[in-house]
Amino acid sequence: MMAKKRLMMLGPPGAGKGTQAKLLSERLSIPHVSTGDMLREARREATPMGVEAGRYMDAGQLVPDEVVIGIVRDCLGGEKGANGFILDGFPRTRAQAEALSAMGLELDAVLNIRVSDEEVVRRLGGRVSCPVCGAVYHEIFNPPTVANTCDACGHVGLVKRDDDQEATILKRLEGYWKQTDPLVEFYRSKGVLVDIDGARSTGEVEASVVDAVS
Ligand code: AP5
Repeated sequence: MMAKKRLMMLGPPGAGKGTQAKLLSERLSIPHVSTGDMLREARREATPMGVEAGRYMDAGQLVPDEVVIGIVRDCLGGEKGANGFILDGFPRTRAQAEALSAMGLELDAVLNIRVSDEEVVRRLGGRVSCPVCGAVYHEIFNPPTVANTCDACGHVGLVKRDDDQEATILKRLEGYWKQTDPLVEFYRSKGVLVDIDGARSTGEVEASVVDAVS
């Protein structure tokens, strides 16, 4: 029986947060809330916020706290988060963590997926995704069955993310260690942090994630 329902995936870019959040969201039937996905959607729709956020994303920097906190409040504030959620990529700063608490959304478990910087570069350097349904693949570790074709929806033409260029990956990693890694101790001190070794197969990592939320 799964008990913990207010969950967060923490970890460096490319650790596998999105991959694991999608699997867990299906298993627990609770929403996967990815601030990165929401920002990319706002960008595609060319909203003023999306255009502004895109400048930070292309530079490998965090989007300002007030923008991201506003997005999460719209998505989970009031009663919307009452039945549980899996946060992916939020909070990423102490100010974001405090804003989440101020919304009355204390986390039951923070799954800290750990991988080395070298593994991050390998994973993000080979990541491709479907521009139609969002399914994520890796050219070597998790290729689609038919080259360049999405297994999930059949679309032909998988794409690389703009921020998965090596120089931008390194900037994102630098930002992670400065701004986000301090949240590991913040949540450990609250007694909700679970360390997960992310340098294993997707199935092995998933088994640890399921164990942690059971
Ligand atoms: P976001 O989209 O959140 O990017 P990220 O945190 O950098 O994480 P990624 O999506 O790159 O990686 P992931 O950990 O989800 O890995 P994945 O499962 O895809 O944010 C993008 C940008 O938006 C930020 O840089 C920032 O500008 C902005 N932003 C977002 N949230 C923000 C916030 N709260 N505050 C401020 N700004 C914010 O896996 C990666 C690859 O590895 C894939 O190819 C996958 O197939 C493969 N893989 C996964 N698991 C395994 C495994 N076990 N073994 C081998 N390969 C694997």
